Amino acid sequence: MPGQLVCFSPACRRRFPITEVAYTCAACGSLLEAEYDFSAADGKALRRLWRERRTSEHPLDRSGVWRYREMFPFLDDYTPVVTLREGNTPLLEAPAAARYGGLDALRFKHQGYNPSGSFKDNGMTAGVAQARRLGRKMVACVSTGNTSASMAAYAAAGGLRAAIFIPHGNIAYGKLAQALEYGALTFQVEANFDQILALVRELADREGIYLLNSVNPFRIEGQKTIVLEILEQCGWRAPDWIVLPGGNLGNTSAFGKALREAVEVGLIDRSPRLAVIQAEGAAPFYNLLREGAGEIRNVEHPETLATAIKIGAPVSWPKARREVETSGGVVEQVSEQEIADAKAVIGRCGIGCEPASAATLAGIRKLTAAGVIGRGQDVVAVLTGHLLKDPDYIHRYHTGQLDDPQGRRIESTFGNQPIMAPNDAAHIARLLRER
Ligand code: F0G
Repeated sequence: MPGQLVCFSPACRRRFPITEVAYTCAACGSLLEAEYDFSAADGKALRRLWRERRTSEHPLDRSGVWRYREMFPFLDDYTPVVTLREGNTPLLEAPAAARYGGLDALRFKHQGYNPSGSFKDNGMTAGVAQARRLGRKMVACVSTGNTSASMAAYAAAGGLRAAIFIPHGNIAYGKLAQALEYGALTFQVEANFDQILALVRELADREGIYLLNSVNPFRIEGQKTIVLEILEQCGWRAPDWIVLPGGNLGNTSAFGKALREAVEVGLIDRSPRLAVIQAEGAAPFYNLLREGAGEIRNVEHPETLATAIKIGAPVSWPKARREVETSGGVVEQVSEQEIADAKAVIGRCGIGCEPASAATLAGIRKLTAAGVIGRGQDVVAVLTGHLLKDPDYIHRYHTGQLDDPQGRRIESTFGNQPIMAPNDAAHIARLLRER
């Protein structure tokens, strides 16, 4: 049974065939989500099956996404799948980061180990499979960088044309470089993410291009496997908290859906709580939950050096709100200085990540200080992107040249300046002894 697309709105719940090319409900305009009949699913048997697949050489089983395909059975057959062996990312212990975050222990689920260096690959392999199943020749997205890098890679591998739209001057260089190298048609538009998303949705409708932003419900289906892999790596004992950064809130939606379904089929007996962390200059979701308002108030001019989450009008907020509330979760916001310092601490663990990912540790530090997360609780934080995505930020931080969007200097609390040295062993020996 390949499932159906269902309108997310509780008041509507209109259903569409799984092959409908739609991102929002034709009746009410709300987001769509995939729904399956899991009544015959057996959690124990699935856990065993997925473990056995780890010894298989079949490409679908080697993928850390398609290994869990029983939890997103939207395809009738698997020929449209393009896999770059995404997923399979490690859960890393980080004692120094735990201390900094006010915890006894902390583990990072590092999605930067993915083929294109971010968590987007988990969703993109699913979205591209659906594009190919539908016979679409061209795919498109607007992106703060990682979605476009990922889509460009999977489109190239799957023989699709890729058109990406990025806010001019506002994405990290590593991400732009990837899109170019993977051969995507790349448009730099003089507008912010939210404005370009409206533009691309119009273009997609008009030109018959398949849209692969996180409004695409199949991206969400693939991203659910990040949570499944975490749970498997935890021996199916749910941690107390899963902490993740929030931008367009696709990932929050995917994580919550995965957790609800994992409980439904008996993979775990209780859900971890979600903690979503936003950057202060781009925190409409934080404001929504703090104020308890009915509708989100968009941030007109979002600002943060964590460009991946520089989003003022997050599309998936209704889903994300449901998921945070259902899991008994929280939303926190953190400053530019807090993100920068947390990022350096994650680096000092030998792990490293891009700025948006470091919002997690900065958020944990605030939430433990406030007593929301307990020191002894079991916490997994998701690092969403690789350290090398944004080398410019790193160099500026460590050399004391990083300014926040208001032009205020960020203190390089954990700075590590390169040392200029002459070609002289005796001189360098002296420098070594001094440090
Ligand atoms: N972390 C990184 C590294 C990201 O690239 C993104 C989103 C997020 C966190 C936030 O995830 O949107 O699901 O809440 N990047 C998107 C992009 C918007 O275009 O690459 P979210």
